[in-house]
Amino acid sequence: MNPIRIGLLGAGVVASGVVKVLQRNQTEIQRRAGRGIEIARVAVRNPEKARAALGSDVELTTDFDALVTDPAIDIVVELIGGTTRAKELVLKAIEAGKHVVTANKALLAVHGTEIFEAASAKGVMVAFEAAVAGGIPIIKALREGLTANRIQWIAGIINGTTNFILSEMRSRGLDFDTVLKEAQRLGYAEADPTFDIEGIDAAHKAAIMSAIAFGVPVQFDKAYVEGITKLQAADITYAEQLGYRIKLLGITKRREHGIELRVHPTLVPQSRLIANVEGAMNAVVVHGDAVGATLYYGKGAGSEPTASAVVADLVDVTRLHTADPDHRVPYLAFQPHALDDTPV
Ligand code: HSE
Repeated sequence: MNPIRIGLLGAGVVASGVVKVLQRNQTEIQRRAGRGIEIARVAVRNPEKARAALGSDVELTTDFDALVTDPAIDIVVELIGGTTRAKELVLKAIEAGKHVVTANKALLAVHGTEIFEAASAKGVMVAFEAAVAGGIPIIKALREGLTANRIQWIAGIINGTTNFILSEMRSRGLDFDTVLKEAQRLGYAEADPTFDIEGIDAAHKAAIMSAIAFGVPVQFDKAYVEGITKLQAADITYAEQLGYRIKLLGITKRREHGIELRVHPTLVPQSRLIANVEGAMNAVVVHGDAVGATLYYGKGAGSEPTASAVVADLVDVTRLHTADPDHRVPYLAFQPHALDDTPV
């Protein structure tokens, strides 16, 4: 069978990871997907810079619109970030009958409902494992592994940058700005790091998990969001002396009258596993009525960890695309049910 053909948007940290992982693990990936996965073309703003980041094996273009409508392309992978141009291109790709794989949590948190309705109308898939907790397969865990459960709550460290900042401030006594710069250098931070440090990125991810876990629309706009910018070094020291650690948690809970959704710094007893998650690592606890508490831990940001999730989606979408189209339905992610209009 011919390989499935990918159009990649973007040449940043995650895109270069996707190119590397697809090349390095080609044999295994082909076997698991049932056919080859080939990058047909990559749309980039700066070809010279992209060539250095992606290597010489990929074909580059600067025409993003032509790429997402190209009849020779089956799946569009959106890795440009942001919510304006990314939204236009994703909707255009869906309209052209392409499946979409995206790592863009902001896009889904703000425009997820519109995007999934468009995909549903077209019968194409939108997959987004990489949008939440980087390399941790938390979307698949919620949607597949825990599907028998009534989820009661989710709480997690879902922003690597802020966890890195809090860890380095505590363990090495470094100041906030120095560690933030280091997180940017390591490729953890968003293009606009305000999204990280003000809790917005974590709220995007919490809203996506909440929608999947509780079958509600993505309600980012109703979340309570507080970041780590008001914390001082002394807060971290005092928390330590009292037997706690400060973690920025994203929390969503099923309550009698609705769904709770919040992000804020939280005092976690040092004895808890989650208190000991350090650096840019992420950890998510999901509590289901049948299974009890389950914990997922791993790299929540960075090139290849995030690429691991993007490529997993590519394998899934390739399998489903190649199989009976009826099997695509579970991939049209947010399927709101009776809880739809519950307040947060
Ligand atoms: N800026 C994000 C973080 C990247 O630090 O977690 C991964 O979503």
